[in-house]
Amino acid sequence: MAEQLAWWQKTIAYEAYPKSFQDTKGAGTGTIAGITSRLDHLASLGVGALWLTPMYKSPQKDNGYDVQDYYQIDPSYGTMGDFDELLAQADARGIKIVMDLVFNHTSDENPWFVESSSSRDNAKADWYVWADPKPDGSVPTNWRSCFGGSAWEWCEARQQYYLHTFGTYQPDLNWECPEVRQAIYDVANWWVAKGVGGFRIDAITFIKKPAVFADAEPDAGDGMVDVRSVTGNVPGILDFLHEFKRQVRDGHDIFTVGEANMVAAEELPQWVGRDGVFDMVFGFEHTKVPLGGTEVWYHKVDWKKSTLVRELVKTEDAVAGLGWCPVFFENHDQPRSVDHFLPEAVPAGRTDDAAKALGMLLLTMRGTPFIYQGEELGVCNLHLPSIDLYNDPQSKSTYAEALAAGLSEQEALEAVWGYSRDNARTPMHWDDTANAGFTTGTPWLAVNEQYKTHNVAAESADPDSVLAWYRRLVALRGELPVLVDGDFTELVPGDEQVFGYARKDAETEALVFVNLSPEPATYDTALVAGAELAASSQGADAQPGALRPYEAVVYRR
Ligand code: GLC
Repeated sequence: MAEQLAWWQKTIAYEAYPKSFQDTKGAGTGTIAGITSRLDHLASLGVGALWLTPMYKSPQKDNGYDVQDYYQIDPSYGTMGDFDELLAQADARGIKIVMDLVFNHTSDENPWFVESSSSRDNAKADWYVWADPKPDGSVPTNWRSCFGGSAWEWCEARQQYYLHTFGTYQPDLNWECPEVRQAIYDVANWWVAKGVGGFRIDAITFIKKPAVFADAEPDAGDGMVDVRSVTGNVPGILDFLHEFKRQVRDGHDIFTVGEANMVAAEELPQWVGRDGVFDMVFGFEHTKVPLGGTEVWYHKVDWKKSTLVRELVKTEDAVAGLGWCPVFFENHDQPRSVDHFLPEAVPAGRTDDAAKALGMLLLTMRGTPFIYQGEELGVCNLHLPSIDLYNDPQSKSTYAEALAAGLSEQEALEAVWGYSRDNARTPMHWDDTANAGFTTGTPWLAVNEQYKTHNVAAESADPDSVLAWYRRLVALRGELPVLVDGDFTELVPGDEQVFGYARKDAETEALVFVNLSPEPATYDTALVAGAELAASSQGADAQPGALRPYEAVVYRR
């Protein structure tokens, strides 16, 4: 029996990076009016939920993840009036807007922090995570921030340090303080009242800090340890998040999806579904496979496709009886998925085939698909010739770390090519005119040269394009609803080339086989006995039991 699904389970979600989506002012950065002007592209992909990374007023040191005022739109994006127009225009197309809530930290220019940092006895003195120096005056602990250097920054006025999991300009909020939690719920509810359809909740697994701040075993030659290994998913965090759920989620027709780094598959029952704290969470175990389970960009490891498949299946299995998680391969923090997961396709010149293979998984595994802008075009990584041309603060700090770890400048740059967050943040490719149709001005970040062939206009006109395949898969979800609501069962576990699975309900079965390798592959024809081909990424002449390099097929029975 097909289960009763919520609207956000039946739809397709899309993530846009507003700074790089569509400029309408010629300033070289995207605007809200630009997003509104491109809603028809999203509608053509069956998108019903549009996640926008933060557009609140911000100094933009981490492209909006440093929020100065949660109740205002940053002027670079336009006005609140533009936002209301976006909501209305999206609504007219059946698309709900999903806001990004950044509540682990604020900008250091947020008035909350300005007040908190002004003295030890102001009304917001406890709103951030403050600590005294060690007796010798040095930082309270050896924790390293995500963007490099100590996670502690000195405040002259208080003669104390504040904690920042990310940049020095992103002080962590103190969730132990009830007024902070209330202020956060007020922000979220204000946006619910405005009519948004859901929230993606940023860096949420880091909000609970350990009771005692102490040095931890160093994980590198700098004597420091990644702060996330100390503050990630600390016991007690779920109490805060249940309160968030009661205060914000309950009673509203919205969905929540938490960014849940460091939540193991076994823990998912406490995080998603009816008894969990969110409707869904983004887990990152699969994205870490090519780095040997770490987040260190310059770790070169040999990894197996079966390990990637195992991580994907683990999540599917863990949430089977509870609800589900998003299916995603890209976002604004990740490399482009073809380079990341199917790297052999790049030198082989088969990136479109590889993008179609991943597209099949994205749109037919069990969960809400989250397409990231450009993924539907098969956009690949960017190779800028110098670190100076990158914008992302993490790219710069990782480059420096890689040099300190003994890599040459070329090797460090290659690590940046592979994993820089800017790979995903380059301007969207609309057509083959100057700057890919993104801006008439100077784009804030280099445009990927691939735009000349891989853009919405050209791919819309080409039946063999990645975009045409995405549209075919979207239509297929309508023709074969079992792809949306069916159970998920892996079919060829441990296979090094083929990822095969069945989606099944009482009446129908959809059988999916994807060749993740650059070589031809086979699977047991008995698995598709009596079934008919519904779609192949490489043509209707697909043979049962055989897959061409990167071919993706779905059979129905
Ligand atoms: C999340 C965001 C990332 C941001 C960080 C700090 O990981 O996805 O882009 O830099 O949080 O807010």
